[in-house]
Amino acid sequence: MAERIAVLGAGGFLGSHLVAALLERRGVEIDAVDVTFDKLETLPLPAERRLRRVTARLDAPGLVDDVTARCETIVSMTALCNPSLYNTRPIEVIDASYTDLVPLVKACASRGRRLVHFSTCEVYGRTGLDVAGRPVARMNEHETGFFLGPAAQERWTYASANQLLERLIWAHGAHAPRGSHAPRGSNTGLDFTIIRPFNVIGPRMDFMPGIDGEGIPRVLASFMSALLRGEPLPLVDGGRQRRSFISAADFTDAIVRVIERAEACRREILNVGNPANDVSIGELARALAAAYAARVPDAPPAAFVDVTAESFYGPGYDDTRERIPDIDRARRLLDWTPRASLAEMLPAIVDDYVRRYGATVAGRLSPGRASGGGRKA
Ligand code: UGA
Repeated sequence: MAERIAVLGAGGFLGSHLVAALLERRGVEIDAVDVTFDKLETLPLPAERRLRRVTARLDAPGLVDDVTARCETIVSMTALCNPSLYNTRPIEVIDASYTDLVPLVKACASRGRRLVHFSTCEVYGRTGLDVAGRPVARMNEHETGFFLGPAAQERWTYASANQLLERLIWAHGAHAPRGSHAPRGSNTGLDFTIIRPFNVIGPRMDFMPGIDGEGIPRVLASFMSALLRGEPLPLVDGGRQRRSFISAADFTDAIVRVIERAEACRREILNVGNPANDVSIGELARALAAAYAARVPDAPPAAFVDVTAESFYGPGYDDTRERIPDIDRARRLLDWTPRASLAEMLPAIVDDYVRRYGATVAGRLSPGRASGGGRKA
């Protein structure tokens, strides 16, 4: 019988990449759960008949019961993963990453289902420190501590909620269910893998403000919005913070391997990112602007503007200074290595945004300000 996998959050950026990749595998059937499937609909999906769409929120009555009854593996990737929400809609952020997921963790544990859960690199916090508080160059799953700001800095709501959920999942893996006499560490606990994605970028990421979403998207979509509109790219606190970017293709390849290698990844926590693509946000802005100029030659030259974090995100925002993953564990367990450099991935990303939004954005600008983004290069 075909393996049935539930993908919760299948209509999002990462979900749409994962569903397409899983459908390439023979013998896999998918229950795709989300509130919208717009990003999936744009794709030529192989083997559509192996895909069942379930339009529902995770907290809909009966939903968790239904997917854990039908599917052997549950991939959970629902979240409000966007720093502009952590200090403006913190209650929803905590509910989406903790409260709404607790019943899922417990149902997977009691039904013996495998849980592949997407946590976040945000759990490491402001910067990498070992458990004694000394700086480390790379964030490691078992050696790096969690360094968050005080409660009033609501930026860390998302990280805290994810930390606690990770601990709940870990505890269900390490401890036998109540009433069972199995010893600690025996095989009766929850079968899980926790993924910590590190700044995945690619086609279909986030949204375009005013077109298919409101507010501030993550940095890639924010910069693409500025480029398409001919506006300056906003550099928060001068763009000094550093991130390591991984392509959606490399990332998805790792996740498919996690799903296939259940035994090797049992009760593991894995960083999935690309340490070779560590850049400052200012460097990302300039590289993206150069890729855009190459694809849309008649666009006006890009401009950049420094903005303070408080004026951009509001009070309670805080930032991660630097975030470089140690991926030795993922390399070893998955026999995987991320390949794409920033220079290799940016042209296709630019093309995707120009194709999806260029004409609409250009149509809304006055003729004098049209950026040329409406034409596909
Ligand atoms: C976010 C999420 O909180 C993480 O959980 C997630 O793993 C990560 O994105 C991701 O994409 O994987 P963060 O990297 O802080 O974390 O999010 P971005 O909004 O992409 O911001 C990156 C950096 O760019 C921050 O320093 C931010 O201040 C800066 N930024 C953002 C700008 O300078 N200009 C902008 O227009 C937007």
